[in-house]
Amino acid sequence: MDQYRVYGNPIKQSRSPIIHQTFAQQTQQQLNYKSEYVELDQFEQTVKEFVTNGGKGANITVPFKEQALTICDQLTERAKLAGAVNTLSFIDGKILGDNTDGQGLVQDLLNNNVQLKNSRILLLGAGGAAKGVVLPLLAQQPETIVIANRTIAKAESLINNFNNNKLSALGFLELGNEKFDLIINATSASLSGNVPPIAKELLANTDCYDMVYGKELTPFLSWAKENGAKKVIDGLGMLVGQAAESFRIWRGVQPEVATVLQKLR
Ligand code: ATR
Repeated sequence: MDQYRVYGNPIKQSRSPIIHQTFAQQTQQQLNYKSEYVELDQFEQTVKEFVTNGGKGANITVPFKEQALTICDQLTERAKLAGAVNTLSFIDGKILGDNTDGQGLVQDLLNNNVQLKNSRILLLGAGGAAKGVVLPLLAQQPETIVIANRTIAKAESLINNFNNNKLSALGFLELGNEKFDLIINATSASLSGNVPPIAKELLANTDCYDMVYGKELTPFLSWAKENGAKKVIDGLGMLVGQAAESFRIWRGVQPEVATVLQKLR
């Protein structure tokens, strides 16, 4: 049976095996997908052994996504621009690297009826998570994407990689009176119980998305909801969406995300 893995450290919490097994049942694909804990200095060796043993593909999660980029023979444009790889395919002994996180986000936003075309988007954060979604968001032809970060220099350096006049970089406190249709929180602030310090005036009639998810609303989303946001959406759908895109790359069939998302909730 075709073998797939997700490699990470830690990995116990990973929902990828249940997601991919459900996709496989749904599309009647015969495959085996397991999670595997990898020691920090064993990443490359682990992947190469899996390739030698006939593995077909792997997902890569924290903290190996940047390292994964360096072991690929070939990269997609979106992986190059993201500076990180979350999906490896092994074909004829070669390692092909892709990044499906941004597509997962875009698909989840569209599934939630959030308009992206001609919209004004505020992206909070300029780390790996933010970088990975810029190109797929631009592909949806928004009017503008403002990238705001605590450390402005990181937002500036991020937009310099793209050379696209729809992008601009600001500090949180410089956001002023602009109106946005959608605010995406790509900072890791929710993980430590914090909310990026933006003015609550930005929330009125605005859709808010947090790439983080949990049993409860994240700190950002509960703050946004209390202060007049139109719709609040957490990142569980992005997780299922990126998995669906990996599955499509590997198996050539598009799985259906809604039932899997329902099952996970
Ligand atoms: P990830 O891969 O999750 O993006 P990262 O590359 O470490 O992780 O980036 C974390 C992002 O969250 C950064 O944009 C960081 O801001 P700085 O660049 O100024 O460090 C942002 N961040 C983390 N904690 C934050 C907080 N409490 N408030 C606002 N931004 C925060």
